[in-house]
Amino acid sequence: MKKLKVLVLGQLDRALAEKLNAIAEIEYVDREERLPEEQIKSLLADKDAVISEPLDTISSAVMDSSKQLRVIANRAVGFDNVHIPDATQRGILVTNTPGVLDAATADLAMALLLATTRRICEADRYIREGKWTGFQNDLMLGPDLWGKTIGIVGMGRIGKAFAKRARAFGLKIIYTRFSPKDKIDSQLWGDYDAVRVDLDDLCKNSDFISIHCPLNSQTKGLIGQAQLDQMKPQCVLINTARGAIIDEQALVSHLVNKKIGGAGLDVFADEPNVPEELLKLDNVVLVPHIGSACFETRFQMAESAVDSILSAFSGQRPNHLVNPEVWNERTQNELAQVKSEAR
Ligand code: GLV
Repeated sequence: MKKLKVLVLGQLDRALAEKLNAIAEIEYVDREERLPEEQIKSLLADKDAVISEPLDTISSAVMDSSKQLRVIANRAVGFDNVHIPDATQRGILVTNTPGVLDAATADLAMALLLATTRRICEADRYIREGKWTGFQNDLMLGPDLWGKTIGIVGMGRIGKAFAKRARAFGLKIIYTRFSPKDKIDSQLWGDYDAVRVDLDDLCKNSDFISIHCPLNSQTKGLIGQAQLDQMKPQCVLINTARGAIIDEQALVSHLVNKKIGGAGLDVFADEPNVPEELLKLDNVVLVPHIGSACFETRFQMAESAVDSILSAFSGQRPNHLVNPEVWNERTQNELAQVKSEAR
């Protein structure tokens, strides 16, 4: 019996593999670094769907390598690694995995804020290097969080989950978001006393800033030289969203020249490359894009990607369509046709 063919970039939990296997033949590529474009193209050549991750660039050339590619299920909430207009033009559905990773990502942002302000990694190194001689009143001091102001850039699901945590730590919240004012602002005021401001005011008035917006043409380089210049000299910047939202060279220069207080970074402009200068700084905490790296969360993200493929080929609208305009009668007929040929 001919089955649908699905390329899985990465691995799948056994239960999910079995679920997908009911309708599809799966080829896995468990890679630790970005695959060359030519390799993804040849792996994809005979596939109907692919499960991709932020590491995988799905360009128009990659899409064109398969005549029958119908679904790109990106196992992430961000989808800047997939060229959406090209997918839309080709009638390829793109799905993502929002919702299930809000808590994990907000937790990591809070962990980075605490680690940076309370100098956790630096203190750990200090002990391991045998430097500790006993309690000292002025050893490893950092700023209190309580009563300070946190600026949240982007108030979607993850931004709100972070606001909830920030509130519990006694932080005052200001935020900026792109969509026009609506009832969300009064809700955020009611829930967290959170005040909407513009980006300039956020940069000027925050003791700490956490980035929670998606990367797109509107947000690329959003935090540049001018925004960094406006920040308080002690300001600590946290980024668990995407590296390219910040002008990385400007950030490095502000950190090296001590123009801001520090940074906690989970994401970088050109992963896995991390600017050399950052490696030498004690006021910077660096982690390798692990915002959603919790067992349960990663399972749910994979489940969401698998369910998207199962739904699409069963004629049901996948829950998290990035390009809903592709879910039209023509696509549904084509998917039904692929499915019936695959029986
Ligand atoms: C991870 O970076 C994601 O976008 O889910």
